[in-house]
Amino acid sequence: MTTRLKVPTERPYDVVIGNGVHEQLRGLVGFGLGVMRVAIIHSPTMAARAEILRDPLVSDALEVHLIEVPDGEEAKNAEVLGFCWKVLGESGFTRSDVIVGLGGGATTDLAGFVAASWLRGVRFVNVPTTVLGMVDAAVGGKTGINTAEGKNLVGAFHEPVGVLCDLDVLTTLPAAELRSGLAEIVKCGFIADPTILDLIEAAPGRVADTRSPILAELITKGIAVKARAVAGDLRESGAGAEGGIGREALNYGHTLGHAIERFEHYRIRHGEAISIGMVFAAEIARRSDQIDQDLLDRHRSILRTIGLPLTCRSGIWEALAATMRLDKKTRGDQLRFVVLKGLARPVILAGPEESLLQDAYRAISS
Ligand SMILES: NC(=O)c1ccc[n+]([C@@H]2O[C@H](COP(=O)([O-])OP(=O)(O)OC[C@H]3O[C@@H](n4cnc5c(N)ncnc54)[C@H](O)[C@@H]3O)[C@@H](O)[C@H]2O)c1
Ligand SMILES: [Zn+2]
Repeated sequence: MTTRLKVPTERPYDVVIGNGVHEQLRGLVGFGLGVMRVAIIHSPTMAARAEILRDPLVSDALEVHLIEVPDGEEAKNAEVLGFCWKVLGESGFTRSDVIVGLGGGATTDLAGFVAASWLRGVRFVNVPTTVLGMVDAAVGGKTGINTAEGKNLVGAFHEPVGVLCDLDVLTTLPAAELRSGLAEIVKCGFIADPTILDLIEAAPGRVADTRSPILAELITKGIAVKARAVAGDLRESGAGAEGGIGREALNYGHTLGHAIERFEHYRIRHGEAISIGMVFAAEIARRSDQIDQDLLDRHRSILRTIGLPLTCRSGIWEALAATMRLDKKTRGDQLRFVVLKGLARPVILAGPEESLLQDAYRAISS
């Protein structure tokens, strides 16, 4: 079964989810728009897949360049960006040509930024191959690279003309990467779509099975939440289309999660860090009487079912708090957390009492 979700931004585009949907790349390249060249920027793990994507395009008489970049985060830097620009320059890439990003979120972030920056923006097709890439990185138009000073410090908003989530590629995804992506889907369940939580609770053993229709459904629901959140609020300028907190809700679990990632020098996966961050946010909400004990317990039981961590080290609160204050999402010197005021009711908590945070931290540190 194939599902098609529309992301209703200024220039709407479709996210297609299903088995075998990579075949639809030909249709997205846009023959009527004068395309002559396609560059497929891919990670080494996706080299064989890149060739599968290339062949039908070559049959259509397009000139296809496969640009292999280093694995994962190693690709998100100025040097690799420069390498991609060089290949495009040498091959005479024009405004009508198309860039395809094939890989996890790191690869598609880089490829999207190449597309955003080349000739001030060429068309980009996003082909994510991790769960996290599908439910998070591929939708919303954020692209970018890291610098020595930090992650995602340089980037641009550049929306794709289409996103292809082919579930066939997930069969090779390492289990830990899959769990990390599921953390983002659980987040979507708590902030916006509780049917996600029901699905996981009804079939805990099948959630991480890449051949199960449940994973497909969870990915689709996660993408739908992200699409809704970004639709009215693409540039994080204010309230969302539905009068909620818009895109900022997607930061549930992320204030502490990012700090843990930085403290651990990114040796912990993003989804693992935000899993702990969500338990922390739920502890804050419980301790300030915004949610009941059942909803707090539900965080722990669902994340545990998936095999995600619930606790972080003890004795590092000061370091985490200092890191949170440096986060680019902090405004002024007030810490901001997304917390729930009941299920699927995210609100912003700005400048909470230090004692509340410390109590919540004690509850999540082992
Ligand atoms: N643009 C956004 O809005 C946004 C949102 C969230 C995250 N991100 C970014 O996404 C990145 C994280 O993405 P990620 O978790 O996908 O990590 P990743 O891109 O580093 O991929 C993780 C690993 O999985 C491998 N891999 C990818 N697909 C595979 C497959 N199908 N089979 C086997 N191995 C495969 C990769 O080669 C890599 O080693 C970060 O750089 C983060 O900043 C961006
Ligand atoms: Zn995230």
